[in-house]
Amino acid sequence: MPHKIAVLPGDGIGPEVTAEAVKVLKAVTGDLEFEETLVGGAAYDATGHPLPDETLKLCRKADAVLLGAVGGPKWDAVEPKELRPEVGALLTLRKKLDLYANLRPARIFKPLMDASPIRFGPSGPIDLIIVRELTGGIYFGDHYRQRSGEEAVDTCRYTREQIRRVAECAFEIARLRKKTVVCVDKANVLETSRLWREVLNEVKDDYKDVELSFMLVDNCAMQLVRDPGQFDVILTENMFGDILSDEAGQITGSLGLLPSASLSGAISDRRLTLGDADESPVVFGLYEPVHGSAPDIAGQGKANPLGAILSAAMMLRYSFGMDAEADVIENAVESLLEQGVRTPDLGGTATTEDVGGSVASRV
Ligand code: NAD
Ligand code: IPM
Ligand code: MN
Repeated sequence: MPHKIAVLPGDGIGPEVTAEAVKVLKAVTGDLEFEETLVGGAAYDATGHPLPDETLKLCRKADAVLLGAVGGPKWDAVEPKELRPEVGALLTLRKKLDLYANLRPARIFKPLMDASPIRFGPSGPIDLIIVRELTGGIYFGDHYRQRSGEEAVDTCRYTREQIRRVAECAFEIARLRKKTVVCVDKANVLETSRLWREVLNEVKDDYKDVELSFMLVDNCAMQLVRDPGQFDVILTENMFGDILSDEAGQITGSLGLLPSASLSGAISDRRLTLGDADESPVVFGLYEPVHGSAPDIAGQGKANPLGAILSAAMMLRYSFGMDAEADVIENAVESLLEQGVRTPDLGGTATTEDVGGSVASRV
């Protein structure tokens, strides 16, 4: 049975980069079935809602979801906020599909190694993964404006259970890497951060082989630039993970390179490594590049599709256990960067289609 993928291109450069990711997936395996539908501003314009029922249904019956990006200036003023692409589509999808563990790996490809001094520090080149909690925190607390209009409120809320499940995911991943977890927070000020520390210290009892430490987020933002190689697994709450992952993206050469996987369900060591052929899908996930819809370059063929393409590789690895095919894509990316096939964000002149086509022809 082929794996079913719901393809949600979205807005801005979303459709441009998603098309290249689908091209690469089709080139690497015949074992996938694609169904495409509208999401975000594009869906709002067509149907009056950024996440039409049909779109949610398609995601639910799929084995995995591939998303481009949503939002843009055209929809920034849409009211109520539930109809804006970011809130009404992206956050709603994450919540409804319970995609609580957002994995954002940031490592530097060898050919890009010399390109900037901040890719190195005393501990060597950047090679880390941010495990970002994705269904809680300030994104999903109460938000309101006082009737007077003089005051606005956003509430940050976390439960022990929300922290525990994403922490377990980070520890499992740490076991497959260098066995260290740095939990990033603002525990000198925030009560939620103090709860995170409490729960983390409890979860750690089940992972005595993994070293756990804590770092305040302002320091982490600085340390990432000073010495990114010191980090292996960074575990953090929703908003800090959002901010730190864009920063990590640029340290690898461009935000346009960074992929992500948003996973739900029990995420165990075995599920993250093997992918058992009898079990399909291995874990349900939504895969999307870390970047947004980039309205400033949309429609110009300038978008770097590698973040989307590498997200597709993560899908093969985590949702379908197709590690060999994922490796092939990642190696192809390395080889074309080596040969200088690069979009303008990496200093090159290649178009989005050149890069996607070049990966597809190599796999
Ligand atoms: P952005 O990530 O879209 O762009 C930031 C900068 O990075 C821009 O200069 C852009 O040109 C560049 N960039 C981003 N992706 C690139 C790529 N693949 N190749 C080359 N350059 C790239 O962030 P923004 O400008 O703050 O947000 C634009 C819109 O996207 C907003 O409406 C925002 O809400 C939305 N957004 C959506 C998602 C998502 O759907 N997952 C993520 C982030 C932002
Ligand atoms: C991301 C994006 C989203 C987030 C926005 C568009 C809501 O920035 O996926 O990183 O903040 O999670
Ligand atoms: Mn972001």
